[in-house]
Amino acid sequence: MAEEKKITTDEILLEMKGISKSFPGVQALKNVDFVLRRGEIHGLVGENGAGKTTLMRILTGVLPKDSGTIILKGKPVHIENPRHAQLLGISVIHQELSVLPNLTVGQNIMLGREPRSFLPFLVDWKKLYRASLEHLQRLNVDIDPRTPISELSVAQRQMVEIARALSFKADIIVMDEPTSALTEKEIESLFSLMRSLREQGISIIFISHKLEEIFSIVDRVTVLRDGALVGSMPISEVKTEEVVKMMVGRELGEMFPKDSVPQKEVVLSVRNLKRGKELRGVSFDLRRGEILGLAGLVGSGRTFVARAIFGADPLEEGEILIEGKKVHIGSPQEAISLGIGFLPEDRKAQGLFLGLPLSHNIGITGLKRLSLFGVVIFRKLKELALNFVNKLRIRTPNISQLVRNLSGGTQQKVILARWLSLKPRILILDEPTRGIDVGAKAEIHAIMSELAKEGVAILMISSELPEVLGVSDRILVMHEGRIVGEFTREEATQDRIMLCATGGANNG
Ligand SMILES: Nc1ncnc2c1ncn2[C@@H]1O[C@H](COP(=O)(O)OP(=O)(O)OP(=O)(O)O)[C@@H](O)[C@H]1O
Ligand SMILES: [Mg+2]
Repeated sequence: MAEEKKITTDEILLEMKGISKSFPGVQALKNVDFVLRRGEIHGLVGENGAGKTTLMRILTGVLPKDSGTIILKGKPVHIENPRHAQLLGISVIHQELSVLPNLTVGQNIMLGREPRSFLPFLVDWKKLYRASLEHLQRLNVDIDPRTPISELSVAQRQMVEIARALSFKADIIVMDEPTSALTEKEIESLFSLMRSLREQGISIIFISHKLEEIFSIVDRVTVLRDGALVGSMPISEVKTEEVVKMMVGRELGEMFPKDSVPQKEVVLSVRNLKRGKELRGVSFDLRRGEILGLAGLVGSGRTFVARAIFGADPLEEGEILIEGKKVHIGSPQEAISLGIGFLPEDRKAQGLFLGLPLSHNIGITGLKRLSLFGVVIFRKLKELALNFVNKLRIRTPNISQLVRNLSGGTQQKVILARWLSLKPRILILDEPTRGIDVGAKAEIHAIMSELAKEGVAILMISSELPEVLGVSDRILVMHEGRIVGEFTREEATQDRIMLCATGGANNG
């Protein structure tokens, strides 16, 4: 049945030709061609700062192009602004979701087009909720349109955005890293939704750094590097390694360099951490020079463990010991002064100074170390920043570039660099490579391994099992606020961890 509906034309829906765009000091796009067919899922990939988001901002009317033409359904168009793009049938699902949390689902879907009752200033609520329900049902999404947005999960909000896009009769939907905050299950349902949109003849442009996702969902892939088009082809005609090579333009080294040797001495012990349903008695030890992986499904409590140790959430019960001494960590400041570093999962919200240069953003927490009698030594700040710009392949015209102007993944590298540069005794990393390109991932793993060799104790939370298996000396698995499994590097396999994480086996 699905087969019958599938539109199999090679009709070209959109052509972007010779698109160029410069910012001060950066040519973000160089003469890029991009062709989108009707009813295809088109992957757009490239390293951090390659120009993916910029190309999509031009398509959706957020940014003007410097040169080039856009041909939509055979006609040249000049896309004035986001509203105009929407009317032309081009919608975008933002990574930072743009739905309004205080309104209901229905209000969000029909925003700006509320049906009126007999008096023009009165909204016909019945009609509004009926119309929005229809849009949701078309997606097979089971959400009551009267629910306030604030009560929905990230995945559900995304569905609401997609319903809103369809209500504009979108035939192109742009998704810029839509899966980065979703659980495995939610990603699966997003993918099945994408497939059903494709059957309805809608084209989707899908941006992701997770190549497994690209290979499992897209029909075609376009690769950008340094603002230029490298290639575009059906996904069936390329292998992962080829795409990686096109993205990074060089052979990648070993994916998971690993040679740290865990030392015996326990640096951090947590005992019976409890807080509501989130933490139901978590205990473990972390040793000097060890990389301890904390695996588990999104929502299993991993982030709460990290936040509790960092003093970001109060505990109801339990104790924390550093080098055998009981400590009370009442705030992140206290945690930092005890030598604990924490790279949070939600990096946008925590810790970037968008209006300050890259160098200051890297050096800011360590300023004391870089100052002499309270005067920051700029030479040292510069050295530090340059070192990380090279190591993490941070794409920027110079180290005084304002962080606001960096690409999404590049901003993530900046916060990571800040914590790595501090060399804390204990470093907690929550999803350290999320949103980060394949090339830099390997560098980050190498730096983690280097720090561990120098004696830093690292607790790493990651939802990417290959990463957990690749870098950890030991792996703990969480499920519903408890640690339910522990594996050594040798024992651990994806299957065993998954079984534990889904509550299927109790190894702990
Ligand atoms: N407003 C701006 N001002 C200055 N430079 C900018 C601006 N917006 C983007 N850039 C630069 O343009 C280049 C391309 O950035 P873009 O956001 O398109 O990358 P991306 O491919 O989406 O990367 P990521 O995977 O990290 O999201 C980068 O060098 C970025 O710093
Ligand atoms: Mg981007």
